[in-house]
Amino acid sequence: MAGDITLTMIKPYAVTKNYTGDIITQINKAGFKIKALKMTWLSPLQAEQFYAVHKDRPFYGALVQYMASGPIVAMVLQKENAVADFRKLIGATDPAEAAEGTIRKQFGTDKQRNAVHGSDSDENAIIESNFHFAIKDQYAY
Ligand code: CMP
Repeated sequence: MAGDITLTMIKPYAVTKNYTGDIITQINKAGFKIKALKMTWLSPLQAEQFYAVHKDRPFYGALVQYMASGPIVAMVLQKENAVADFRKLIGATDPAEAAEGTIRKQFGTDKQRNAVHGSDSDENAIIESNFHFAIKDQYAY
């Protein structure tokens, strides 16, 4: 149902450091259901497209290059109030400013290698989920 999903990506550094299992465990313990999951490697073009909303920001080029530099794990997560609750679980964009116990605090190193992405709105959660998965009605189980 609209409003109860969010899209996350575990970013390359966290995947290559083998943090995927620990991160998924924390996501499940926080009450999110995994509705779709895949490990993949974004091409530079895909990374550009995914982050197109940031194309005018000074960090865009570095962000695109980083996100295409190694494997990622993309997931559609479901929970009531998914977008806001997930952003609380992962913490601030900069791990140095993230609250204790948050995923970015535990597994991130800096703003770029901040362990995970989380959608910033219900609208973007749907756009981003459709970017990674052929969804439609498949979350209805
Ligand atoms: P994410 O949640 O994936 O959404 C956009 C990403 O841009 C963000 O996480 C950060 O990794 C990155 N980002 C945001 N602000 C900065 C910044 N000031 N410098 C470098 N990267 C940034």
